[in-house]
Amino acid sequence: MIVTLGRGVRPRALHIWTRRYSNGIEGVTYNNVFYPPDEYTNIRSSILSHLGRNIYLQKDHPIAIVRSLIEKHFGSSFVPITALPPIVSPQQNFDELEFPLDHPGRRPSDSYYLNKDWMLRTHTSAHEVQVFRSGIPKWLLSADVYRRDEIDRSHYPVFHQMEGARVVEPSEMEDLRKENDELAQSLAAVNIQVEDVSTIGEKNPYQPWHNPDHAKLVNDNLKHSLNGMIYALFGGLATHKGKGPLQVRWIDAYFPWTSPSYEVEVLFDGKWLEILGCGVMQQAALTRSSVPKDNVGWAFGLGLERIAMVLFQVPDIRLFWSKDARFLEQFSDGTVTQFKPFSKYPSSSKDVSFWLGEREVHENDVYDIVREVAGGLVEEVKEVDRFTHPKTGKSSRAYRVTYRSMERTLTGEEVNTLHNDLGLKLIEAFNVQLR
Ligand code: PHE
Repeated sequence: MIVTLGRGVRPRALHIWTRRYSNGIEGVTYNNVFYPPDEYTNIRSSILSHLGRNIYLQKDHPIAIVRSLIEKHFGSSFVPITALPPIVSPQQNFDELEFPLDHPGRRPSDSYYLNKDWMLRTHTSAHEVQVFRSGIPKWLLSADVYRRDEIDRSHYPVFHQMEGARVVEPSEMEDLRKENDELAQSLAAVNIQVEDVSTIGEKNPYQPWHNPDHAKLVNDNLKHSLNGMIYALFGGLATHKGKGPLQVRWIDAYFPWTSPSYEVEVLFDGKWLEILGCGVMQQAALTRSSVPKDNVGWAFGLGLERIAMVLFQVPDIRLFWSKDARFLEQFSDGTVTQFKPFSKYPSSSKDVSFWLGEREVHENDVYDIVREVAGGLVEEVKEVDRFTHPKTGKSSRAYRVTYRSMERTLTGEEVNTLHNDLGLKLIEAFNVQLR
């Protein structure tokens, strides 16, 4: 089967390219472009069916509401950018951002590849170099991103990020100093407590080629801007619940294309929740975008689902993909309201265990087959056993799959059919032997 999406018509002549690889996946046609499969190809129709859904642009959708709240907070000087196609090259996703060649993110076990030259972006940073190159000094880019990961109520292979960035010229530095003072003053006047445990130093340094004064101004601007944004998003919640100041924590991080780099966390219900990653742009990446070498920039990337789940109290990430009016009609543009669950339908857990054949199977390969079979009807998959027989050397795995619909009660028969199908698909894809 060739997966054809959008209005694309597969040209007949390309049929000769269609080859079935050992994982049973064939070539993909998307927007009239055919991507011939190779040993990297690992994308399946359950993922491809999400391309073009654009829930982050859908009016009154919680993901779109969070996006607009952030855009509104930053104001019109930050140019909003949306609707960039999700298929990018590994150069865009990794190389342009200084990712080392052996970085784990590049592995096909962690990312979706159409083939070795094309992949689904794993983060909105994949567009940084291209947007900086366009010369826009302040921008906010939102998009769907794709990662192979576990299956539970907060992980879905498709989610949304917003990237924000700013480049400052030397002539603007004095204005930036004033802006920083003003931002610091307005933050001092609101109920936020920022704990900064980051340590600029050997492990997380300023860049030696930067004017130290300018780098510090940009670094401070990054911090003030993001604290202000976080307060705009979460401050209401904290005050509303009468729980004292909103607590925010800055910690050191590492990203290949920023230095210094940070992660920012917000205390929510007694737990530190990681909200975003950010830092001062590595000059090499800016230079790649033809930004003059005496300019200094910052960038951040945040997960819109993470924030929406907290703000709207949405208990399962699958709900964001729901077309059920009982979900969608609860929300309206510009306002944050608490989600009222329409019902909690019963779940059903079933185990599947198997002996591996010749081939090693990554757990993400198993999760993708579960998605392929059960789509939005799977809530969680847990590995419950992994062992190698001491005599035969054969390896076995066991997974517990929890099925639950967000919208109705699944019948026992339906669940049995799904689960049997899962067994068959696992045999077909990996040549395993069910136990
Ligand atoms: N892209 C990073 C992530 O997905 C976040 C990030 C964006 C970090 C920009 C630094 C600068 O985790």
